[in-house]
Amino acid sequence: MKHVPVLMREVLEVFAGKKLRTFFDGTLGAAGHANAILQAHPEIEKYIGCDRDPRAHELSSGVLAPWKEKVKFVRGSYAEMIRLVDGCIDGFLIDVGVSSMQLDERERGFSFMGDAPLDMRMDPEGKLTAEIIVNRYSEADLAKIFYEYGEERRSRQVAKAIVEARRKKRIRTTAELVHIIKPVATKGRLHPATLVFQALRIAVNDELGQLEKGIDGAIEKLCPGGRIAVISFHSLEDRIVKNHFRDAKDKVKVLTKKPIGPSAEEIRENPRSRSSKLRAAEAL
Ligand SMILES: C[S@@+](CC[C@H](N)C(=O)[O-])C[C@H]1O[C@@H](n2cnc3c(N)ncnc32)[C@H](O)[C@@H]1O
Repeated sequence: MKHVPVLMREVLEVFAGKKLRTFFDGTLGAAGHANAILQAHPEIEKYIGCDRDPRAHELSSGVLAPWKEKVKFVRGSYAEMIRLVDGCIDGFLIDVGVSSMQLDERERGFSFMGDAPLDMRMDPEGKLTAEIIVNRYSEADLAKIFYEYGEERRSRQVAKAIVEARRKKRIRTTAELVHIIKPVATKGRLHPATLVFQALRIAVNDELGQLEKGIDGAIEKLCPGGRIAVISFHSLEDRIVKNHFRDAKDKVKVLTKKPIGPSAEEIRENPRSRSSKLRAAEAL
């Protein structure tokens, strides 16, 4: 499935009227935002597209071909890579989470559909996998991950079911995990495995830690008047963005008093956008 970028118009509005020379896209993915930003800002001299998933380079190179002289692909975590950039940056974008292509690549274990090894690493060279978490973490730590990162109300029951099952046999695949958690996880509008899978993905990729470090690193690198836009999908992520902007109030002015969400039309066309929130700030 093609990845449909969220809050596109709203992201473009953050940078509208700004003269951008250098742009750092921390989560390039399939370059949907990158393509639109490069079209709207022909003055961009250097567009650094960062992704920790090496597949993003392949997926985005076709779309970005018209600008190949300006685009530099860097592989790695945006929290680390931002520190290595020379000079200051006029625009910075983070669009967190998983891409539709990552979900579709079943063998990577992000999806609870089908059967695949319990992996979930965005960076295939990362050390931590979902299999390690599920089989080694204590029951209390599992419950905490499911509650905090997944907002799974039945986190303790899910953790208990996992610990009981792994006593008999190591849990190796997504289908095995779904089979174990389905009877005990919250049942509602979503598939019962949705929240647990989301929580594991956030933990495997240290997504909240990345966001904290990445925002702080980006703020340090912004040119005076440069802008940062962050799209998040989870209340914990949105809180991190809000607090880190607020804590940097001697360095940035917040441009979004409240987070900007998708229009009804966008939600209708792309239900994945439902929980997205955009916040932006400008360097003083
Ligand atoms: C939601 S997609 C981005 C989609 C992109 N904005 C577009 O329009 O196609 C998120 C992407 O960010 C990458 N990613 C997530 N966390 C990352 C991190 N800490 N550092 C670098 N890339 C990351 C994922 O591998 C994925 O490709």
